[in-house]
Amino acid sequence: MTDWNKQLAAMREEYDSAPLRRDDLAPSPLEQFSNWLQDASDAGIADSNACSLATVDELSRPVSRAVLLKGLEDGLFIFFTNFESRKAEHLLSNPRACMHFPWFSLQRQVLVAGSVERIDDAKSEEYFKSRPYFSRLGAWASRQSAPLDSRETLEQAFLEAREKHGEDPPKPPHWGGFALSPESVEFWQGGSHRLHDRFLYERSDPDGWELRRLYP
Ligand SMILES: Cc1cc2nc3c(=O)[nH]c(=O)nc-3n(C[C@H](O)[C@H](O)[C@H](O)COP(=O)(O)O)c2cc1C
Repeated sequence: MTDWNKQLAAMREEYDSAPLRRDDLAPSPLEQFSNWLQDASDAGIADSNACSLATVDELSRPVSRAVLLKGLEDGLFIFFTNFESRKAEHLLSNPRACMHFPWFSLQRQVLVAGSVERIDDAKSEEYFKSRPYFSRLGAWASRQSAPLDSRETLEQAFLEAREKHGEDPPKPPHWGGFALSPESVEFWQGGSHRLHDRFLYERSDPDGWELRRLYP
């Protein structure tokens, strides 16, 4: 087995991108996020809309997992999932979360933290309809986060969903969107000599944001 201890100590990226200055930043973190998401997408980063979503359970134990950002509207960050999943259970008992967008090849990361609510069922329906056929069937077949005895059971559930719902599967009642309303958004840009640039927007009132630079 590889002796990782030495190799890990030697693994080191030099960050050399242009510094991030206060004047470069948009007045609203949503606009700034939109600009950086565009950069990530233009750079060809695979799943540039993927983030790690952190939640905590009822005993405050944190868990994080990847989800895809599927909507950015009215200042809300929207993702879709199974309402009976572990993450949904967490959000039911503690409706707060943090999204981490890891655009490492651009030497950037963004953290978006705030409160989370389920979106209207009509909006979930609208997005569900736009999903590929097999993804729609998959939403019926998967009891996300529940123990599964074998792959065959899952494949069987998929076939049964196909049998039952035919060519136009409706949105399952246990599937839909959550919207995160940000209270803080942090932008991090790698800099030379580990002197990175880090800016934090915090909501100061319903419409305003306070912007501060943080030590890296
Ligand atoms: C790139 C990527 C994107 C994913 N997107 C989603 C998503 O949008 N929604 C979702 O429910 N799970 C998504 N998953 C699966 C989750 O990471 C996770 O395994 C699943 O939601 C169960 O999490 P939970 O048991 O903590 O609820 C994605 C996984 C990867 C690797």
